[in-house]
Amino acid sequence: MVKTKKSGAKYSAIVAISENLKRQKAKGKYILFLNRGINAVVNIDLSDIIPMIDFNSADIQVYPPNKGRLSLRKAINDTFFHSSANPENIFMTNGGISALDLIFKTLDVQKVWLPSFYWGAYKNVAKINHTAFDFYENIKFIENNIEQFKDSAIIFCDPNNPLGNKLDDIELLVLVEKLEKAGVIAIWDSPYRKLFFEWEDDDFYKKLIGFKNVIISESFSKSVGLSGQRLGFVHCSNQVFNEELNINLLFATNGINAFSQLLIEKLLTTEKGKQAVSDFKRKTTTDIKKNIQYLIEHKLLASEFYDDTEPLGIFVIANKSYDELLEQGIGSVPLNYFTTLPDEIANKYARICVSVPHDEFVKFFTDLF
Ligand SMILES: Cc1ncc(COP(=O)(O)O)c(C=O)c1O
Repeated sequence: MVKTKKSGAKYSAIVAISENLKRQKAKGKYILFLNRGINAVVNIDLSDIIPMIDFNSADIQVYPPNKGRLSLRKAINDTFFHSSANPENIFMTNGGISALDLIFKTLDVQKVWLPSFYWGAYKNVAKINHTAFDFYENIKFIENNIEQFKDSAIIFCDPNNPLGNKLDDIELLVLVEKLEKAGVIAIWDSPYRKLFFEWEDDDFYKKLIGFKNVIISESFSKSVGLSGQRLGFVHCSNQVFNEELNINLLFATNGINAFSQLLIEKLLTTEKGKQAVSDFKRKTTTDIKKNIQYLIEHKLLASEFYDDTEPLGIFVIANKSYDELLEQGIGSVPLNYFTTLPDEIANKYARICVSVPHDEFVKFFTDLF
């Protein structure tokens, strides 16, 4: 008998939706896959980057350092932290999900607080790591109840998945300062941010690491569209935490794929790489913007979720149900996968990814109004 430890985590139900949509496509139905969490306006064009990589080298063929390549961690320091971090405090991971898993595994807190509109994996990664979790309504709620969060960690996801809204950076920094004073940990999991911001101008992470209680979880899946490369990182400046994280990282991974590290390093450090990133971001965000504008103009955006914030992407909430969208061949995910709202409300809405070519988007949405 194979006895199994059950954590209570569930295999992603979103995968079942995606499989159903693929079956429909195989039967000949035209489907626009807005259920996925990927940028699909264009691929990042790597044709000038691949020739820079020597596959016949120890760089690719041999175990990389446990924390990741030093040259990559230095490049991340320069681009994401404007050279203000210590590369020793940066740890490469297998994408953002493994960054979160390692953080949950390493962090000793009573509870992790998730946003009330949340990426479902947070719950499951918490369960796998036997970490208690709860939900906070919004940042005002945190501000007014700081004592309640003592000895806990709070996840911030901004721009948010599933809402795609962006909170005000200054308000966030003011809140983080209050949390620091109250001894509350902030886990910054915002892998969509760097898609929308110019890296040279965006000094938010530089400001964030001025606080000792902030742990950053990042990913190259969204900002450069390379989810297949499975690369992310953790930044934390607490040495005790980092020592344990380093051990957990070693025995979970034995080092992170050297090819993906080298590839991202070329994107961050070479002129051609920077150009490829910049082209990808410009083309992607241009169509995201047009798609959101189109939804607003045709009253298809669930504006009730965007009271005092702007929808930025890559997701937004449509005021149509999963079934209504599917009738037009649009794949989505019902909002009840991402919220604490009761099902009878949440099922009237769906999360859609707006990172697809604008022309295609319009073709599928024209019959909805
Ligand atoms: C909010 C959020 N954080 C982290 C991730 C992790 O992505 P990856 O494991 O591909 O880096 C995702 C992916 O969808 C996400 O939506």
